[in-house]
Amino acid sequence: MKFIKATDYMDMSRKAANIISAQIIMKPNCVLGLATGSSPIGIYNQLVEWYQKGDLDFSQVTTINLDEYKGLSKDNEQSYYHFMDEKLFSRVNIKKERIFLPNGMEKDSTKACDDYNNIIESCKGVDLQLLGIGHNGHIGFNEPGEEFKAKTHCVDLAESTIIANQRFFSTIEEVPKQAYTVGIKTIMQAEKIVVVVSGEEKAEIVKEAFFGPITPKVQASILQLHNDVTIVADEAALSMIEL
Ligand code: GLP
Repeated sequence: MKFIKATDYMDMSRKAANIISAQIIMKPNCVLGLATGSSPIGIYNQLVEWYQKGDLDFSQVTTINLDEYKGLSKDNEQSYYHFMDEKLFSRVNIKKERIFLPNGMEKDSTKACDDYNNIIESCKGVDLQLLGIGHNGHIGFNEPGEEFKAKTHCVDLAESTIIANQRFFSTIEEVPKQAYTVGIKTIMQAEKIVVVVSGEEKAEIVKEAFFGPITPKVQASILQLHNDVTIVADEAALSMIEL
């Protein structure tokens, strides 16, 4: 695992955006695995800025997002589709038909997951997967458990995740209790993985996930087995480890 130390959130965002922009420049028709949450917002802002300057072209890029809340439609302001559209897709020249997220409105979980697995397969592999990490070590919405789930599945969100994500909703009751998420195998099959982590409240999980035992109880710990992982983290997030 490679660690890149950033001074703060802005610096982390620029450094990670540099890696993603290099990927797009080196392979204009690349497949990017994208993430939601607060961690990647600065990256998306930076990529948009470079696009506006004419330095980046998304016209051949394909994106596969990690997850979507079950029961939320694309135009629901809390959906991950809406988040991605607002932060990135509507602001760059990516083709709508090259944007993929699980279908939150599909009630039949098996169908929703099978459909998404088929989409992922048809894209023939993710070149670069961007990840954030939850306080409990989740990646995508792969919550702590007894196993690593390989493919897209419907997950019951952990209570701590529902509480953490409450900030995006008016009341905790509005936070969906389930989501569709790509599996760990899909994440691990990406050629390259970039993890962004910021803030002191993530320092403990950084230590546990990347320096502790590999266990499904801390899903991100599996990343220790991938041969091309770059963790871009700010000083606060790295405060409990020595590099
Ligand atoms: C969310 C998302 C994850 C994200 C994580 C951390 O629930 N499903 O993809 O990485 O939680 O979010 P944040 O970056 O806001 O801490």
